[in-house]
Amino acid sequence: MDAILTPNWGLVLLISPFLFLIAVGIRNRYFHPLSCFPGPFLASTGPLYSMWASNTGREHEIIASLHKKYGPIVRYQSDMLQFAEAGMVPVIYSRYANKTEFNRINLPGQVPGVAGLIEHKEHSARRKQIASMYSMSAAKQVEDMVDMRIMEFKSRVREKYVGVGKKLDFARWTQYFAYDVISEVAFGKPLGFMASNSDVHNLIASAHNGLVVLVTLARSDWLKKAVRHPLVMKYFTPAMSKETGIGRLLEERDTIVAERINEQSTGAHIGKRADLMQHLLNTRDTAAPLTLNEIKAELLVVMFAGSDTTAATLRGILLNLLHTPSYYQTLISEIDAYTAARPPFSVISYDDAYALPYLTACIKESMRFSPATPSILPRYPNKGGLTLADGRYIPEFTKMTVNARVCQRDPKVYGEDADVYNPQRWLEGGDKVREMERHDIHFGAGSRTCLGKNIAYLELWKMTFEFFRTFKPTIVEPEKMTIRNIGLLVHDKLYVQLEERA
Ligand SMILES: *[C@@H]1O[C@H](CO)[C@@H](O)[C@H](O)[C@H]1NC(C)=O
Repeated sequence: MDAILTPNWGLVLLISPFLFLIAVGIRNRYFHPLSCFPGPFLASTGPLYSMWASNTGREHEIIASLHKKYGPIVRYQSDMLQFAEAGMVPVIYSRYANKTEFNRINLPGQVPGVAGLIEHKEHSARRKQIASMYSMSAAKQVEDMVDMRIMEFKSRVREKYVGVGKKLDFARWTQYFAYDVISEVAFGKPLGFMASNSDVHNLIASAHNGLVVLVTLARSDWLKKAVRHPLVMKYFTPAMSKETGIGRLLEERDTIVAERINEQSTGAHIGKRADLMQHLLNTRDTAAPLTLNEIKAELLVVMFAGSDTTAATLRGILLNLLHTPSYYQTLISEIDAYTAARPPFSVISYDDAYALPYLTACIKESMRFSPATPSILPRYPNKGGLTLADGRYIPEFTKMTVNARVCQRDPKVYGEDADVYNPQRWLEGGDKVREMERHDIHFGAGSRTCLGKNIAYLELWKMTFEFFRTFKPTIVEPEKMTIRNIGLLVHDKLYVQLEERA
């Protein structure tokens, strides 16, 4: 009798957190301002559903099927709405939209770079300081670096694979290429991925491992804050080894920056080419100087945001073209006609490559059809929230997002055949192309578009032209290839057999 009447405090203590979570879940599901938006039950209770989806490695497919089932607006977390219509892109990514906790990406002990600044005012101030370094004219100053890496790619691939009839893992080699280009553009010298035919310092693997955890945990503001707490960080810090991975990159970055500052003070750097580090350091003599920590933060962002994404885009281009032989043939004819009309050259200029209509159509269509980062990209509505055309109200605290893979296939903007790869749609010109461009979110949208876009364009256009001009690829052992969405698409074992083209 007593046992029933006297509360078992131990048990109460044990189950009360669960009761609390259940209460929060019920409130989120039934008594929440977003309750009027449909979605999976679990998604409406908190972040668990989206964490699960992120962790499956095929989040874009899950989001696409949610829209099929629930319509163009899906409640994807208790406080997050997922939009399928491309028409929402200009609304969500409006000029003053703040980012959310999800985007706070700086590593422990590091200040955020431009991409990690949440608040739009802070972001636009930083962006003003550095935007000119990423303009197309600035990107063209490093065009010769890209050329050298393309030539290195061609000669190493020739020697190690084509000459000896070995299959090439295009997935790995696009990563090596992109990481070498970016390290050279950022620091003035490639880290040597292609030269060593290996993942230098295990950098790529550790970036991917870190990203998997980050993209999943970051769905919960609460968990995100918890893991960033100094006490928890202290526990994780030993994992940031100085021998390999990101820890090693931080070490190297700091050494290279210190060396450059030293060279600068002795005048030894004069005459060296202007890499990004130099441009960033030069701001220190202007009215809007960056601190040393901010400079280092920008370099880190460039290194990670600018490499895997370009590699994933190159893989998408190859796969899309090899799966549609008639488009591939049309592209080859354009490449050959261009080449035949000129004296021999080693790497096509960016301006010439971008002026080739079919090449440009193939690349843009691939970015539309197979975006490199089909993840979430959340923003808060402007002050006062947002009222939709149907009268439903989205309060200020709501996170709004689209998935690039879904909204870049919206038939209202891209046409009835939006679900197929068809470069032709970019050749129609006029308003249609402008509309497609306005709603494209491959490099983000609004005032937050990717600063590295111009450098990426340079790499994508030149590399695509040169790769297909030089080699004839055939996919082999296609069943071995895997694709994981870890916030960006990571292909593995994308084997091609290459023949040298005459
Ligand atoms: C963005 O965030 C800042 C800081 O929290 C806030 O003051 C500002 O009002 C927000 N902007 C909008 C448009 O909501």
